[in-house]
Amino acid sequence: MRYYFAPMEGITDHIFRGVHHQYFPGADKYYTPFFSPTSDGRFPPRNMRDFDVEVNRGIPVVPQFLTKRGADFLWAAKILADLGYTEINLNLGCPSGTVTAKGKGSGLLSDLEGLRQLLDEIFAHPPTEISVKTRLGRSDPEEFPLLLEIFNQYPISELTVHCRVGADFYRKPARPEVFALPLAKSRAPVCYNGDLAIWEQVQDFQDRYPTTPAVMLGRGAVADPALICRLKGKEPVDRTNLQRYTEELFARYSSAFGSPKSALGRMKEIWFYQINLFEGAEKIGKRLKKTASPEEYRDLTARIFGELPLRTAGAMPAW
Ligand SMILES: Cc1cc2nc3c(=O)[nH]c(=O)nc-3n(C[C@H](O)[C@H](O)[C@H](O)COP(=O)(O)O)c2cc1C
Repeated sequence: MRYYFAPMEGITDHIFRGVHHQYFPGADKYYTPFFSPTSDGRFPPRNMRDFDVEVNRGIPVVPQFLTKRGADFLWAAKILADLGYTEINLNLGCPSGTVTAKGKGSGLLSDLEGLRQLLDEIFAHPPTEISVKTRLGRSDPEEFPLLLEIFNQYPISELTVHCRVGADFYRKPARPEVFALPLAKSRAPVCYNGDLAIWEQVQDFQDRYPTTPAVMLGRGAVADPALICRLKGKEPVDRTNLQRYTEELFARYSSAFGSPKSALGRMKEIWFYQINLFEGAEKIGKRLKKTASPEEYRDLTARIFGELPLRTAGAMPAW
C-alpha cells in the first residue's frame, strides 16, 4: 500500500511539505494545493515557489492544477515538465461555490461535454503523466458510473477517488462503499481518499479493500504528522519530535511571512487539526484559536507539549 499526503490549500505548501518530510519522512507522494493556470501563460512568483525544484529536492512532489481549459493546463504542465516534474494532477473535486460556479473542480463533473473536451485536449499531447483527483459526482453518487466510463477512455496515470460528491463539501461523511466500483472497474490504478483520519481507520479500510494500491490522507495526516510513518511500521508520534517539528514550522513561517505575528494564522490552521492529538486540549485549544500574540502562542503551545497527554491511538477527528 502506498500513502500519499493530500493537497490542502492554505496548509500543505512547500514549507509545510519540507518540514514534514524532514521530521516524518515516508509519504510516497505529496500533492501540492491546486494552482489555477490562467490564459496569460505565466506562474505568479508566489505560486512558483511551490514548484521550485531546489525547494522540493528529494521530496516526491506532484503539482495539482485546477482548470477547465486544456490550453491553460498544457502551457503550465509544459513548464513544469521542463523543470523535471513527471506527473501533474487534475483537480476535479474542489467543492467551493466560487470554483464550481465557474465550471471547475467538482463543477466540471456535471458538465460531461466540458469534461470530455478538457480530457481530449490534455491527453492529446501530454507533456507529463496526468493523474486525476475526483469526487463521486457533483451532487449524487449515481453520477459516478458514467464518470468512470469517461475516465476509462483516457490514459490517466492514477485515479484518486475522494468518496464524496461536491454537494457534500466536507460536512457529510465519506462513502467508502462506492469505492468498490472504481477498484474493480477503473482502467487507471486507483487511490482512495476520504475520512481515514487515524491508524485504525486506515487498517480497517485495508482489511475491507486489501487490493487497494494507494490511499491519500489529508486532515488526519496534518493532525498526526507521524500517521504515515506509523502506517509504514514505525513508532507512533513522539512528543519531542512533534514539538521540534511544530517549532520549526513556526520558525519557517515566521521568516517566510516576515514576522512571528504574521505566521500565527498559518499555525492556527495547522493546530486546528493537530490539537486533536492531545487529550483534554479543549480549553487551551480555544485560547490558541483566539490569540493574536506570538508570546501567548509560545506559552500555550509549551503548555500543550509540557502538560497534555498524547492520544496514543492518534488524533480522533473533531472537525
Ligand atoms: C483546508 C482544506 C484544503 C484543501 N485543499 C485541496 C486542494 O487544494 N486540492 C484538492 O484536491 N483537495 C483539497 N482538499 C481536499 C483534501 O485533499 C482531501 O480530499 C479531503 O480533505 C478528504 O481527505 P481527508 O478526509 O483525509 O482529509 C482540501 C481540504 C481541506 C480540508
